[in-house]
Amino acid sequence: MRYRKIPDETVRRLPVYLRGIRLLSAQGQDSICSKALADFIGVNAWQIRKDLSYFGELGKPGVGYAVSKLERQIRKVLNLEGGHNVVLVGVGNLGSAVLAFGGFAQYGFNIVAAFDSDPRKIGKKKCHLIIEDVTKLSRLKTKDVDLGIIAVPGEAAQEIADGLVSAGVRGILNFAPVRINVPKKVKIITIDIAMVLARLPYYIPSAKNNSSNDVGIAATANGGRD
Ligand code: NAI
Repeated sequence: MRYRKIPDETVRRLPVYLRGIRLLSAQGQDSICSKALADFIGVNAWQIRKDLSYFGELGKPGVGYAVSKLERQIRKVLNLEGGHNVVLVGVGNLGSAVLAFGGFAQYGFNIVAAFDSDPRKIGKKKCHLIIEDVTKLSRLKTKDVDLGIIAVPGEAAQEIADGLVSAGVRGILNFAPVRINVPKKVKIITIDIAMVLARLPYYIPSAKNNSSNDVGIAATANGGRD
């Protein structure tokens, strides 16, 4: 089921809530009020109440939210419940780090295949997988894979995305620093750490910038939680 009315901004925050709730649950906490959850994860309480209200009344006045129920509900909304098989394309520096990262399983993600075009890598074992030839990407159809991760150079990314879509992938996490076109039925999210880093200096203006023309726009060094 899709909760179509939930705004993208809220969907973006839900994994943050989920992470906080999981940590609280691991600490043995059964219930939590929005204020305490807000303090714990660094989002304001009003925002949390508003976000969670999109999928029904989950909290009780004076008691707060039942942690396990909230976790279940957020997982359900995010469509994490049944787990997802994921394919990785590009087993270079970044792709290898992604494969080695152990943090995906907690959200139900299972990387079941990895492809590359480099003959020196194809057939070699990386983590728990044998790297496959990217020209055989269509094999994916038999593996019930619905998500893909692209970690190839920018110039190859569109072609890889097209191949993933043809193989039945419906959601793509793209690390290549290019814009990729996909059909409407496919969701693509591009992550570029360099672009995020490029925002950071704005919040720590240099002394030189401070003393230059004051145009009345003050950057705060510690204000912007993200
Ligand atoms: P890399 O050169 O170490 O790895 C790229 C891999 O892709 C290699 O194994 C290569 O054989 C493979 N490859 C090249 N063309 C291919 C194709 N057509 N089909 C299948 N495999 C192919 O590069 P690195 O450092 O791992 O970066 C990978 C991508 O991720 C680049 O686009 C890079 O700009 C991007 N990147 C993005 C970051 C981010 O924050 N979004 C951070 C670091 C890298």
